[in-house]
Amino acid sequence: MNETDIKDIIVRKMRPGDLKEVLAIEKVSFPTPWSENMFLEELYSPICNDFVATSDGEIVGYISFLTVLDEIHLRNIAVREDRKRRKIASKLLGEMFKISSEKGTNWCTLEVRKSNYAAITMYKKFGFVISGIRPRYYSETREDALIMQATLE
Ligand SMILES: CC(C)(COP(=O)(O)OP(=O)(O)OC[C@H]1O[C@@H](n2cnc3c(N)ncnc32)[C@H](O)[C@@H]1OP(=O)(O)O)[C@@H](O)C(=O)NCCC(=O)NCCS
Repeated sequence: MNETDIKDIIVRKMRPGDLKEVLAIEKVSFPTPWSENMFLEELYSPICNDFVATSDGEIVGYISFLTVLDEIHLRNIAVREDRKRRKIASKLLGEMFKISSEKGTNWCTLEVRKSNYAAITMYKKFGFVISGIRPRYYSETREDALIMQATLE
């Protein structure tokens, strides 16, 4: 697969039946992965938005974000290890920005581990700037979180 194959990636709403594959990606992506119940609560919440990226029917990434009043809070995004650096996260962020535009939200905020160079680089590419620090936000490693924000058009 090369970059041009991104057109074959389909983004659709996450369903409970997707969780086995989603959890497999989640477990290798984060030190404190979300549980199945956390995803299920998301799926049944009216303010949560959860999408998967699929390739030939396989789940290769996902995104979860909240929409509250005029704000989006990006809570989770991950891509399957063997499909990284192929613009899948970029496509998922594109879906979030599309929904943001439909809902008329004005800005997006997120927290990211200070050491997560790949994610910070990606967010900066999409117009996010660092707006603050939450010291020792991640309790298991006592790592700081950077707060990043983007103004949405
Ligand atoms: C961060 C993550 C979601 C990126 O997914 P991806 O599909 O590989 O990202 P994309 O291919 O869309 O990359 C978009 C841009 O992000 C940046 N980027 C992504 N991975 C990078 C890396 N390893 N190093 C440096 N920059 C990187 C680049 O600017 C890239 O654009 P480019 O390829 O034109 O240079 C993925 O690495 C991942 O799942 N990480 C583990 C989970 C995680 O940390 N999530 C974020 C929580 S805040």
